[in-house]
Amino acid sequence: MTVKKICCIGAGYVGGPTCAVIAYKCPGIQVTIVDLNQARIDAWNSDNLPIYEPGLEDVVFARRGKNLFFSTDVDKAINDADLIFVSVNTPTKKTGMGAGSAADLAYVESATRRIAEVATSSKIVVEKSTVPCRTAQSMRTILEANCRENIRFDILSNPEFLAEGTAITDLFNPDRVLIGALQTEEGLKAQQALVEIYTHWVPIERVITTNLWSSELSKLAANAMLAQRISSINALSAICEATGADVDEVAYACGRDSRIGPKFLKASVGFGGSCFQKDILNLVYLAEQFHLPEVAAYWRQVVIMNEYQKERFVHRIISTLFNTITNKKIAVLGFAFKKDTGDTRESAAITLIKDFIQEHARVHLYDPKVEHAQIYMDLIEPGVADSKAQVEKHLTICSSAYEACQDADAVVVVTEWDEFKDTHLDYQKIYDSMHKPAFIFDGRLILDAPKLRKMGFKVEVIGKHNLAGTA
Ligand SMILES: NC(=O)c1ccc[n+]([C@@H]2O[C@H](COP(=O)([O-])OP(=O)(O)OC[C@H]3O[C@@H](n4cnc5c(N)ncnc54)[C@H](O)[C@@H]3O)[C@@H](O)[C@H]2O)c1
Repeated sequence: MTVKKICCIGAGYVGGPTCAVIAYKCPGIQVTIVDLNQARIDAWNSDNLPIYEPGLEDVVFARRGKNLFFSTDVDKAINDADLIFVSVNTPTKKTGMGAGSAADLAYVESATRRIAEVATSSKIVVEKSTVPCRTAQSMRTILEANCRENIRFDILSNPEFLAEGTAITDLFNPDRVLIGALQTEEGLKAQQALVEIYTHWVPIERVITTNLWSSELSKLAANAMLAQRISSINALSAICEATGADVDEVAYACGRDSRIGPKFLKASVGFGGSCFQKDILNLVYLAEQFHLPEVAAYWRQVVIMNEYQKERFVHRIISTLFNTITNKKIAVLGFAFKKDTGDTRESAAITLIKDFIQEHARVHLYDPKVEHAQIYMDLIEPGVADSKAQVEKHLTICSSAYEACQDADAVVVVTEWDEFKDTHLDYQKIYDSMHKPAFIFDGRLILDAPKLRKMGFKVEVIGKHNLAGTA
């Protein structure tokens, strides 16, 4: 079967870029990306796209209105399509059974039910969302129980491995594309149809075909292993700070071993993003369900270590600032969970600013991409600040790093945006404008600490013992 029309349900960080790239690479296929959120679709149809990703505008503007469409007419797009990607959100459940670790599959189920209700012809349905192992089975049961006569649905699992901030280059040149299918004649035919879409630009050797359950589990496993490496180097960063070892040197020395490799060994204030924590917790829940408590505890520790790293950094800041930050002005550089994205989900900045506010500091924040409304929304979430008034009293959002640092007692680098590096920002100007002693805390290891110390800064870096002392 050759796919001519694709529908993608969910116009978020994954559905938008992924299907825009399919439209770009396959001009002969019509791609319609749909969402229930009218504001998001309006933004996709405007000059100001709803998400920031380097290279995304070029892709969207090249194909939009030709073979790439954004719409809220979910039913029409479902009906027109031969193949449907389900790319809706699967957040961690906040209440009920499995709260705090299980994935909330309500959006997947609702999209699946919609497909069953409105489809008047057979479809290939592709799980793009990250889901617990065996979700495809539930989708199949729902589709088969609710569809019209003589219609068949083939379910595939095609998890997405793009990383925010490099989504377009990742999609153009993926390490691998993973497609899981039921090992039946029809399942394998559907799998082949999706293989043919990707091989428009991905070499066939990079397309991995597996059974459905391996594909679903591989996505959770890959994210768990990536997060585990970050927690491992962060655990070592605590030992470095205590002993005088330098975490960058340790990471380099370990990474030179070809069995270990250099990637994902950068110590930091902790990982964020919508996926790592959620997917590990998902794996933990799966292990618990299968009565594997040791396995669950092993993976849970990766998340515990991540929380510990943020706490440790806050303690270090407070103790360095003479054990109190009450009324002190703290300049926070960065709110996105990493550079080159406007995404703030699970960003370490949220935890840090929450703690600073609770200590009655005056926080002055600058981020180059995150919208002000998003910052307030994240900080007013239950469990973060007590009230909107409290946030407004303690937080000022600034329009430049210089403005945030003016008269500050301390600067805290939370996101590794290139523009915060000492090769881009004039730290002498910042030093001159700050209260003295002028402290700087590097939570991302992006600054040249000896150079800043020469200017007069008191510098504290994650994973590095301050041999010079701060006082
Ligand atoms: N963000 C990432 O970096 C990343 C990477 C790989 C995989 N994933 C996975 O991909 C999935 C989507 O993630 P995301 O970051 O794009 O989420 P997102 O929240 O940015 O987007 C999901 C979109 O789905 C829409 N939606 C929900 N239910 C719908 C329905 N029934 N009909 C139409 N639209 C509906 C929402 O309005 C939202 O716009 C998740 O399962 C996530 O774990 C995310």
